[in-house]
Parts: sequence; structure tokens; C-alpha cells
Amino acid sequence: MAKFNDIKGFIFDLDGVITDTARFHTQAWHQLADKVGAPWSQELEDNLKGVSRMDSLEMILNAGGLSNNYSDEEKEQLATEKNTNYLALVDQMTPDDILPGIKDFLDSLKANHYAIALASASKNGPRVLGKLELTDYFPTIVDPATLSKGKPDPEIYIKGAEALNLQPEQCIGIEDAAAGVEAINGAGETSVGIGSAKLLHEADIIFPTTKDLTLANIQKAMG
Ligand code: G6P
Ligand code: MG
Repeated sequence: MAKFNDIKGFIFDLDGVITDTARFHTQAWHQLADKVGAPWSQELEDNLKGVSRMDSLEMILNAGGLSNNYSDEEKEQLATEKNTNYLALVDQMTPDDILPGIKDFLDSLKANHYAIALASASKNGPRVLGKLELTDYFPTIVDPATLSKGKPDPEIYIKGAEALNLQPEQCIGIEDAAAGVEAINGAGETSVGIGSAKLLHEADIIFPTTKDLTLANIQKAMG
């Protein structure tokens, strides 16, 4: 693992790290799965985390052996429908929906002059940050539309480090999804997983909740 003193920047996932929108994505996808008659499972739910909108739809359709039943245009329509349902939930969010400890952590990063970037696969990232009133903390956002491959490919975390003018070894990535942890590790950055140690066992550091996300705890874990 990198040394804490070499760390200069933090690259954040959004959904499930900064706020619990993972819950809203799940709700909207589950609704769509029921509509098309695809089976839902906890495993599918876990595997969708961090995965782009169209890839998520494919995974859901594949779970029901339904992928060939829809044209590309119909798939676009299904994805748009899911997104409309998802945004109806997002638009009710307020700064109270920031996960515990995140605001303090962001403030401590700013106070200590760390660079901060967002590396979310979500095309709704700026809208969600706006609802949470966190836009000013994230001057650097990797645009998921520019990616050739989504998580677990490391591209988004590599681009995050580049956007901050840092080497990957100088960055810590923070994720709640196994696909995201794999992307951080593949980029050569230090990975912090938030959530279940069983799902995130490949992370360099695992914290059960966002409350544990402090510079002191990270320093301790990096030794
Ligand atoms: C994040 C979430 C995924 C979501 C993806 C795309 O990675 O973890 O659940 O599918 O973003 O989000 P979007 O808002 O663009 O549909
Ligand atoms: Mg996430």
C-alpha cells in the first residue's frame, strides 16, 4: 500500500458513498425488472452497483434471458423510463441526505489542501451533488460520457488522477461497490471500501460505514 504522507488527492464514487442513491437506483431497477419479468436477486442487486445505466439494463435482461427480446431502441426506452423514475426520487433529496460523516470528511480534506474529484459512472452526478449542495466541493468531475469502458475497468479512476494532475499512487479512491474497488485497484490507487467486508474484500482499507471515514482512521489503516 502507498504511504499516507504521499497521498495528495481523494477520488470519490457518488452513489452509496456520498449519499444513499444506491437505494434509489435499486428501487427503480427492481421496478423495471418486475415490468419486463426478469428475476430479481440480492446478487443481481449487489452486482449492479457501480455499473453504467445501459450495462445495468443488459444485466437485468440477461438474468431473465430476455436480452434478445428488445431492439436497441426499445432498450433505450427502458433505460429512459428507469431514469425518469430514479430522478423523481433524486429530486426529493436535500442536504439532509448526505451520508453521516461525509460533510466533515470533505471539510477536513479541504482544510488540509487535498485535491478532490468525483468518479461516478452516473450521468446524474452533477444533479445529485446539486441537490445535496455539495457542488462546490467537486470542481473536478470525470464525465462518464467520455469513458470507453465502465467500472470495473480502471479508466474512470485513471482519468480522475489525471484531472487532478496527480499520479495514481498519490490518490485514494472511495467506493461502496466491488466493481468500483476493482477499478481503483486496477488504476494503481489506494482503495477504501465502505460497507460489507465480504463484498469489498479486495479493498486496501474497509470501513463499515461513512462515519468511519476520517483522515485519522485512514492514516492509522495505512500504517
Ligand atoms: C453509479 C451507480 C449505478 C448506476 C450508474 C449509472 O455507478 O452505482 O447503480 O447504474 O451510476 O447511473 P445513471 O444515473 O447515469 O443512470
Ligand atoms: Mg457506488
